[in-house]
Amino acid sequence: MNQSEPLSVLETGHRILWGDATDLAAISDASIDLVVTSPPYPMIEMWDSIFKDQSAEAARALKQGRPMAAFEAMHQVLDRVWRALWRVMRPGAIACINIGDAVRTMGGVFTLYPNHARILSALLAIGFNPLPVVIWRKQTNAPNKFMGSGMLPAGAYVTLEHEFVLVARKGDKRNFASTSGKQRRHESAYFWEERNQWFSDVWFDLKGSRQKLSKSERHRSGAFPVELAYRLINMYALSGDTVLDPFLGTGSTMIAAMAAGRHSIGVEIDGSLKLTIQAGIDEMIPWANQRIDQRLADHRAFVAGREQTHGPLRHRNAHYGFSVVTGQERQLRFYRPVAVRNLDKDAFGVDYVAENSQPTDAAAPPRTRRRSAKSVATAASSRGQSTLPGF
Ligand SMILES: C[S@@+](CC[C@H](N)C(=O)[O-])C[C@H]1O[C@@H](n2cnc3c(N)ncnc32)[C@H](O)[C@@H]1O
Repeated sequence: MNQSEPLSVLETGHRILWGDATDLAAISDASIDLVVTSPPYPMIEMWDSIFKDQSAEAARALKQGRPMAAFEAMHQVLDRVWRALWRVMRPGAIACINIGDAVRTMGGVFTLYPNHARILSALLAIGFNPLPVVIWRKQTNAPNKFMGSGMLPAGAYVTLEHEFVLVARKGDKRNFASTSGKQRRHESAYFWEERNQWFSDVWFDLKGSRQKLSKSERHRSGAFPVELAYRLINMYALSGDTVLDPFLGTGSTMIAAMAAGRHSIGVEIDGSLKLTIQAGIDEMIPWANQRIDQRLADHRAFVAGREQTHGPLRHRNAHYGFSVVTGQERQLRFYRPVAVRNLDKDAFGVDYVAENSQPTDAAAPPRTRRRSAKSVATAASSRGQSTLPGF
C-alpha cells in the first residue's frame, strides 16, 4: 500500500424517520448518546398551525383568546417528546434543546411566554439533571427592533435577541472504562482554546444558518446555524456516537453529525422538507472540510501567538505534529468526510479518511466501523416495525 495514501477508516450512518417524535418506537432503548434539537416554539405565530394540528386544546385556546392555556397545551405536545427521549437516551447521555422565549400580544395584552423555563421544568419533572445553559446572540437586522413607547419610560420592552441551549443529562456522567472508549474519547478531543470559547455560557459568534437557505426559507423553517449543532456535537459526543434530533427540520443536526463523524437519526413530521434536507447533505462535504481546515488554521495561529508570549508549549499532537497546550489534545484528530452514499431513500452512509500526516497512521489497522452505516440501512424504515439494530 502506498504509505502516503489516506486510509478510509470510518463510516457513519444517518437515517431520517418521517413521522411524529412523540412516538420513538423505531429507536432502541438507551441507544442515543446525544440529543441536539430545536422544537417548534410555542406562542410564536409561525408554529401555531403545527401545534393546532397536534393539540385540539391548543387550537381551542388560541381561537377563544386564552393565550396561557394555549401556551400550556403547546408545551404538553413537547412534553411527550421529552418523555420519549428519556427511554432512548443512554444513561449519561445529554440533551441540548435550542429554544427561544416568545412575546405576543393577545387580547390587547403584551406578554412574554417563557418557553425555556417551561421546558426546563418539564425536563426536571421527567428526572433529567439540568446542567448550565448556553445563551447565544442571534444575528438580527430587524429595522424596528425596539418595542413599545420609544423614548418615554416605562412602556418599552427589551428586544429578544438571544436564544437558549438548554442542557440536561440523563443521570450521572458517562463512564469510559474500556480501552476503545478511552481511545475514541481522546481522538474526539477539542483544542484547549476551543474549550475556552465553547464552554462559555454566552456565545456571540454564531453566524446565520446554511448558505443554501434563502432568508425567507430560513425564517419559515426556524433553522439554526449548522455551527451551533456542530459545536454541541463536538462538546458532548464522541466520534462514532449516535446523535438524535427529534425535530429535524432542514437537517442541520444531521449535517453537523455527518461533518463531525457521528451517526445520526432525525425525526421530522413535515415530509415537504425532504428536498431541503437533501440539498443540505449535498453541501456537507465542502462545509465539513472547510470547517476542519479552519479549526486547524485557527489552532496553528493560536500556537504561534501563544508561544510568542508564553514560550514553547509542552505537548505535541501525535497526528499533526503541532504543539498543543494539554496532554489531552495529543491524540486529537479529524476524520474528513469524502463520500456520501444513499443507503436507501431515507438513509445515508458517509465515508471518512483520517489525515495521514504521521507514518504511524499508515501502519495502523483500519479503525473498526463500530456501529456501521449498514446498521442504519437495515434499520426500521417504517415506524414501529422493529428497533434500530446496532444503535
Ligand atoms: C424549529 S424547527 C427545527 C429546525 C431545525 N433545527 C433546523 O435547523 O432546520 C421544528 C421542526 O419540528 C417539526 N415538528 C413539529 N412537530 C413535530 C413532531 N411532533 N414530530 C416531529 N417533528 C415535528 C416541524 O415540522 C419543524 O420542521
